[in-house]
Amino acid sequence: MKIKNEYKEITEKILNDENFKLLKNERHHGTNRYDHSRRVSFLSFLLCKLFKGDEKAGAEAGLLHDFFYGKSSYLEHPQVSSANAKKYFNISDKEASIIESHMYHLALLKNSYTFLKKDNKVKAKEYKPNCKEGYIVCFADMLVSIFEGSIFEVRYGVCLYLLFIMNLIRY
Ligand SMILES: [Fe+2]
Ligand SMILES: [Fe+2]
Repeated sequence: MKIKNEYKEITEKILNDENFKLLKNERHHGTNRYDHSRRVSFLSFLLCKLFKGDEKAGAEAGLLHDFFYGKSSYLEHPQVSSANAKKYFNISDKEASIIESHMYHLALLKNSYTFLKKDNKVKAKEYKPNCKEGYIVCFADMLVSIFEGSIFEVRYGVCLYLLFIMNLIRY
């Protein structure tokens, strides 16, 4: 109960915000973007506790990592979400950088495997998290997305996840 109350205290302002609630209308990984963000945020909060990170930054950046409306590309939406988070909430520079780096896994994969490269050359370094919480939100997002998707998406997600781990070891 203590953990849930702690989490609630950090996140209730964002969760009850009218602009943020609009994410309930956005489809995302077979669910809606509001529920997806809440799951990523709670898992990030728990992982920050486990690894002695900044729980507030993990929980808030986790909530705001996909704070965009309509469609955006895989590699552009972190910037859009960060701009919206700055516009509507008083986020720290650290939280902004966590949001902006949450697609590091995809940037790294696109950088490494030519068959995934549909767009211009991606510079993975530009997406590299600069703090522990950045890696935590990136991992939490991947894990949550894998379990929210359809069977096909789950398999695809597991493959991406394994490739990402392999890449991290190699780098
Ligand atoms: Fe995202
Ligand atoms: Fe996400």
